[in-house]
Amino acid sequence: MKRINYKDLPKDYKVLLKKAEKAMERAYNPYSGFSVGAALLTKEGKIITGANVENAAYGSSICAERSAIMRANTMGYRIFTAIAIIAKGKNFDTTETTAPCGECRQVLNEFSQISEYDFDVILSTSKKDKIEIWKISELLPKAFGPKDLGIDVKQYQK
Ligand code: THU
Repeated sequence: MKRINYKDLPKDYKVLLKKAEKAMERAYNPYSGFSVGAALLTKEGKIITGANVENAAYGSSICAERSAIMRANTMGYRIFTAIAIIAKGKNFDTTETTAPCGECRQVLNEFSQISEYDFDVILSTSKKDKIEIWKISELLPKAFGPKDLGIDVKQYQK
C-alpha cells in the first residue's frame, strides 16, 4: 500500500477519482445514507463508473464496485488497470478511506485474473485528504479463484 497526496497522483488517476466522486452523487441509499462511487479504468483508457444501489430487502443491495464491474462487462470491457473508490456519509465526511467489502474484493479478484493484471485500487476519503493505492492481491491475499477450479479465464478477455 502506498499513501499519496492528491496533488501527487498521476493525471489519469486524478481523472479516475473525479469520475468516482461524480458517480458517488448517484448513490441510491435511503437505508444507510452512505454514498460510494467507483470508477474502473479499462486497458483502452475508458472509464466506467458505478454507485451503490440499496433495496428495502437489504440483502438485495449492490455496492458501487460491483455495480461498476457489471456495467463494464455489459458494455464489453473486462480488462482493467485500476479502480478508484470514494465514499461519504449522509451527515459526515469520511476521515479514513473506505475499502471494498469482501464480496467486492472477490469479484475484483476474478477480473484481475481475467485481466492477468494485479490492478491498482485507489481509495480516497470524501475530501480527498487521505489517498491510498493498494494492489487487489494485497486486499485479498491467497484468494480463491478460477485457478482453484482448474479454469483459465484469460480466454474471456475482451
Ligand atoms: N458499500 C459500497 O458500495 N461499497 C463498499 O465498498 C462498502 C459498502 C455500500 C453498500 C451499502 O449501500 C452502503 O455502502 C452501506 O453499507
